[in-house]
Amino acid sequence: MLSDNAKRHFESSINLIDATLKDYLCIKNVPYQVVADAMEYSVEIGGKRIRPILVLEFCKACGGDIIDALPFAAALELIHTYSLVHDDLPCMDNDTLRRGKESTWKKYGETYGVLSGDALLTYAFQIASNAGVPDHTTVMCTRLLANYSGIYGMIGGQTLDIINENSTSLTIDELRETERLKTGALIRCACEMGCAVGGASKEQFEAAKVYAENLGLAFQIIDDILDVTGDETILGKEIGQDVQNGKITYVTLLGIDGAEELAKEYTLKALDALSAFDNAEYLIEGTKYLLDRNK
Ligand code: IPE
Ligand code: IPE
Ligand code: MG
Ligand code: MG
Ligand code: MG
Repeated sequence: MLSDNAKRHFESSINLIDATLKDYLCIKNVPYQVVADAMEYSVEIGGKRIRPILVLEFCKACGGDIIDALPFAAALELIHTYSLVHDDLPCMDNDTLRRGKESTWKKYGETYGVLSGDALLTYAFQIASNAGVPDHTTVMCTRLLANYSGIYGMIGGQTLDIINENSTSLTIDELRETERLKTGALIRCACEMGCAVGGASKEQFEAAKVYAENLGLAFQIIDDILDVTGDETILGKEIGQDVQNGKITYVTLLGIDGAEELAKEYTLKALDALSAFDNAEYLIEGTKYLLDRNK
């Protein structure tokens, strides 16, 4: 449970992030409206906004102004949402429920599911490269977005996730490498972009990487557990999908108890890394909260 102060704090961050996203996604009166509508739909149906919150929190923890970080926070949420839109496609995880509503391809059809995902990805770079902050910050953040979302990051991980399907010999190290990329990369991107905007010291950058690496792994382990133990109406996505799709997860390899134990270990390591920041009280609370999340 979050304290009342933390709850208020994160609600106000989410309001700011949602208002920023809404502004960017207000694309009207274009002849290709259907894809603009699908983009808006997939982003505005909800989501926990963990990655943009991390951008803002790390910016603040380094002494920066969160207003400067907002375009990058929004760009990252668009990339994350695109990854979910494509992840749900019939050729990927074949999911019909996302964020409590019909997944984008189910509502708009596969063609527009693919195109709106592509458009979200590209729009993210348009937003980041026009962020209106000093050029060196724009270059750093745009580079981080590219490095972590592509073949050396999230897409690399999504590919390993497909290659690993139905494997009978996947090791825990191989699974860790998959999840480090699939889920960890965008989380690292969030923390490092926050540091870049906030003007972090070298030590703070290093600490943010350690934090994100560990949080990313804990986050995916909990995602795997919730796919087995979660409540579909709270989670907002179908449960039991991993077994159905032949995914080898932390639960497959370690069981629920073993997976929970490991998520705790990674969370403690993440929390340790936060000692490099003075202003991290909400980050600490939020990180603990993510371990006990039910959605
Ligand atoms: C789901 O991410 C996919 C993973 C990388 C585990 P989130 O759990 O952050 O999904 P939303 O954004 O809240 O819908
Ligand atoms: C998806 O992982 C991660 C990315 C989209 C990069 P999952 O396939 O486990 O995510 P959910 O469970 O569908 O949200
Ligand atoms: Mg998947
Ligand atoms: Mg999936
Ligand atoms: Mg999952």
